[in-house]
Amino acid sequence: MAKHELRFDDRVVIVTGAGAGIGRAYAMEFARRGAKVVVNDLGAAAEQDGDVRPADEVAIEIETAGGQATANYSSVENGEEIVQMAMDVFGRVDVLINNAGISFPKPFGDMSYNEWRLMLGVHLDGSFQTTRAAWEGMQANEFGRILCTVSHAFYGFPEMSHYAAAKAAILGLAGSLALEGAAYDIHSNVITPVAATRMLTGDVDPEFVKQLDVGPEYIAQAAVALCHESSQENGVFVEAGGRFVGRYRFAHSKGVKFSEQEYSAEAIVERWDDICDFSDVFLPNSNVEAVQRTGLDLAELVANFKK
Ligand code: NAI
Repeated sequence: MAKHELRFDDRVVIVTGAGAGIGRAYAMEFARRGAKVVVNDLGAAAEQDGDVRPADEVAIEIETAGGQATANYSSVENGEEIVQMAMDVFGRVDVLINNAGISFPKPFGDMSYNEWRLMLGVHLDGSFQTTRAAWEGMQANEFGRILCTVSHAFYGFPEMSHYAAAKAAILGLAGSLALEGAAYDIHSNVITPVAATRMLTGDVDPEFVKQLDVGPEYIAQAAVALCHESSQENGVFVEAGGRFVGRYRFAHSKGVKFSEQEYSAEAIVERWDDICDFSDVFLPNSNVEAVQRTGLDLAELVANFKK
């Protein structure tokens, strides 16, 4: 049990896609811990509720519980509007949670370019737009915590190639932000949630869903831990679902370094089992470490870039 409660008093937190699901749980939990929360969601009002949109509902719920929140209805693809609202209402951005997402299946053979772009637009471009808009303010404040959202679907998922590709791309975005932000105490990490929300269980029998112990409120605790000012984690990939929390990274096989004489396609085929042997696994911490075994020193290469 942590000694001190992780508080966010005087911190401004943007949560995108916070009108429902995991985003709603984030917004409620950060607010409960003292944060001023921008509750973003473009979701439209349900007809019977008149003008009250999901973002309003969550903001009202936070305020009713004594917290501070403001609702924002922009699409993450217009991320600068969300950041501008945070600046106008609360004056700064400390934590940005890129959570908004959509999901719809499409066999690859039927996928139009517009459907592909729609998916990348919300997940990848949306993460870019919000982060880009918040970045300079975080640099000026010399503080920021960014949490990007991916999915285990990046391993590949049938009829979800657009979603899987968008999520895999976000790993590269977050990893690069971690390196560029480190000097400014801007930390960028990745959360990979598993939670019974509309997105995951929308088509499942509600009675079955009820007995699953993987609610979105569990994910919020992992987000709080990663986004607190005391967290030194930067550039890590975390997975969370139910009360399970883990970290993952890429495993490389030991591989084979061939001599000049023996190197050929035939030799590769012959040594394939050794090439793919994961018994002595290599877990590089960086791009530079990963490339090093080829004989290329990437750091030296970069130092020799033409000015
Ligand atoms: P959800 O469908 O319950 O909530 C997503 C929210 O994002 C909705 O309220 C929606 O209106 C909002 N949204 C969609 N497009 C938007 C846009 N352009 N701008 C602003 N808001 C937008 O889904 P859930 O499960 O809460 O998903 C949250 C994130 O977690 C997503 O990025 C999703 O891909 C990711 N995820 C969820 C998993 C799960 O098990 N539920 C598994 C892996 C990833």
